[in-house]
Amino acid sequence: MEIKEVKLNNFRNYSQAKIDFKNGLNFIVGKNAQGKTNLLESIYISSIGKSPRIRKDKLIIKFGEERAKIDIDFFTLAGKKNIQIFLDKQNKKAIKINNLNVLKLTELVGCLSVVYFSPDELKLIKEVPEDRRTFLDISISQFDKNYLYNLLKYDKILRQRNTILKSNESINSKIEQLKLFTPQLVDTAEKIILKRLEFVENLRPIAKEIHKKITLDEDLEIEYSYRPNDKPIKEDLSEQFEKIINKEIELGYTCLGPHRDDLEFKINGLDCKNFASQGQQRTVALVVKLSLMEVIKNEINEYPILLLDDVLSELDLARQNRLLEFSTKYQTLITCTNLPETNLPYNEIKIENGAVL
Ligand SMILES: Nc1ncnc2c1ncn2[C@@H]1O[C@H](COP(=O)(O)OP(=O)(O)OP(=O)(O)O)[C@@H](O)[C@H]1O
Ligand SMILES: [Mg+2]
Repeated sequence: MEIKEVKLNNFRNYSQAKIDFKNGLNFIVGKNAQGKTNLLESIYISSIGKSPRIRKDKLIIKFGEERAKIDIDFFTLAGKKNIQIFLDKQNKKAIKINNLNVLKLTELVGCLSVVYFSPDELKLIKEVPEDRRTFLDISISQFDKNYLYNLLKYDKILRQRNTILKSNESINSKIEQLKLFTPQLVDTAEKIILKRLEFVENLRPIAKEIHKKITLDEDLEIEYSYRPNDKPIKEDLSEQFEKIINKEIELGYTCLGPHRDDLEFKINGLDCKNFASQGQQRTVALVVKLSLMEVIKNEINEYPILLLDDVLSELDLARQNRLLEFSTKYQTLITCTNLPETNLPYNEIKIENGAVL
């Protein structure tokens, strides 16, 4: 995929701006607080439907304005496409693809594929399992709509099941109702776990190879926390649920399933969360995103857009250069305060105070 042009209207610190991009490396250069991250954020919102930074859409409308608009022209294998996002202080967000209204967010996801990396993405390694599940879910949803539907379905059944577990009804009545909901939950859980296992299986060798190329001597392992045994997943989960039913009723929530699973990263056999240095963790997070570019490419036959926010300043020169070489394969938009030294061809976009110079 390739973004040709982004038009912003009252988005964050941009009043009115038109930004053109080229194929390959694009450096978005400017001093601090000029609007570089905001520009990447506008592209991310057009892809995923929400900001990577904040939950409340309305905060990204320019201070003092009533509405904002993002308008992106891009090319895919299927031809030229356009996405428009309309944000309004008074109304719900509206989305159009090729000028046609999009009624559900699920229709937007996958239209413009992006992989985003910012220093904040270190949470993929350092923080809670929820951050790693979000990574899995956003990544897989970009190329598999069924996965996204199953996630939404699972979430609904999970909430219903938790309501029963939490209720004031008798234990027998809870057990009776769970007989209906547990098989539904297990059924959808199996589909989600199978897809995640397949995704990790595809990601693992690519990440191992890229990580070795960037670090030269480290071995990266990635594993999903649910390890299948000789039983079908559905049967295994059903048996486990039977064993913990009393505990679940006592606690009042569902203790098992993909909403509790995790992703594990190890360097040379040591768990990254507890043993890797800051620089190693950053490299792993970045490698995972570069590998995701390849996994998505294998699924949809074309590369997504790579968005790298503030990543160069945090890497040593050798790692910086190896990263830049990787990112010439596809369209990459990199924010930086100073142009890096490179012999590779690139396009420079200078940003100052919410405007392109
Ligand atoms: N809703 C908004 N309306 C107007 N300005 C905003 C809004 N939200 C954020 N800003 C401003 O946008 C400015 C630029 O933010 P951005 O994060 O894009 O900077 P940056 O160029 O990435 O800087 P850095 O190099 O420090 O990362 C900030 O000074 C911030 O105050
Ligand atoms: Mg920034």
